[in-house]
Amino acid sequence: MTSLKTDRFLLRLPEERDFPVYRAFFEDGEASRFYGGPLRQDQAWRVLAGHLGHWQLREYGVWAIEPLEGGAIIGGCGFVWPEGWPRRELTWWLMPAARGTGAAMEVSKAAIRQAYETNGWPLVETHMNDDNRPAKGLVRKLGGEPIAREMFPDGLERTVYSLPCT
Ligand SMILES: CC(C)(COP(=O)(O)OP(=O)(O)OC[C@H]1O[C@@H](n2cnc3c(N)ncnc32)[C@H](O)[C@@H]1OP(=O)(O)O)[C@@H](O)C(=O)NCCC(=O)NCCS
Repeated sequence: MTSLKTDRFLLRLPEERDFPVYRAFFEDGEASRFYGGPLRQDQAWRVLAGHLGHWQLREYGVWAIEPLEGGAIIGGCGFVWPEGWPRRELTWWLMPAARGTGAAMEVSKAAIRQAYETNGWPLVETHMNDDNRPAKGLVRKLGGEPIAREMFPDGLERTVYSLPCT
């Protein structure tokens, strides 16, 4: 299943027409600082290609979040597990204008439900940099519980959270 619908959004595979939003997100160093930014446009394009490629390789990945009322995507949400990383994670990137609107909660709940109920995963997890307060706040609101503290391949130690189906 590669697309999902929530009250306000269609979660679908990223497409090349989404690139202007990827570019804008990654050229904004403040908006993208916990997501590897700032990045040049060629690097941002590779992120989009990587998100799409993840679906091809693993049969799950990051959805583009398209408002049902129309218009450009507001960001992305989904699951990634790069080779060599210890765990799969729920991940998000939202354009600044879409933050604080409940979008992250709405799409996260749909993604988590899909992971447990459709994919049959035994556990949905996420992790973030210690100083990423918005991501920590989102995980708290989703009912996340710390389950581990561990070193990641990029040399950063992070807390890992389990996420319940709500
Ligand atoms: C992480 C992200 C998806 C969260 O989305 P969001 O719309 O900002 O989330 P919310 O507004 O629901 O905020 C979640 C909670 O975090 C807290 N919070 C939000 N912004 C905060 C800030 N700047 N400082 C401290 N706490 C903050 C609040 O408690 C908030 O809950 P409340 O609105 O009920 O008070 C979004 O900020 C984002 O895209 N960030 C850039 C990419 C990123 O960091 N991805 C995660 C990588 S692990």
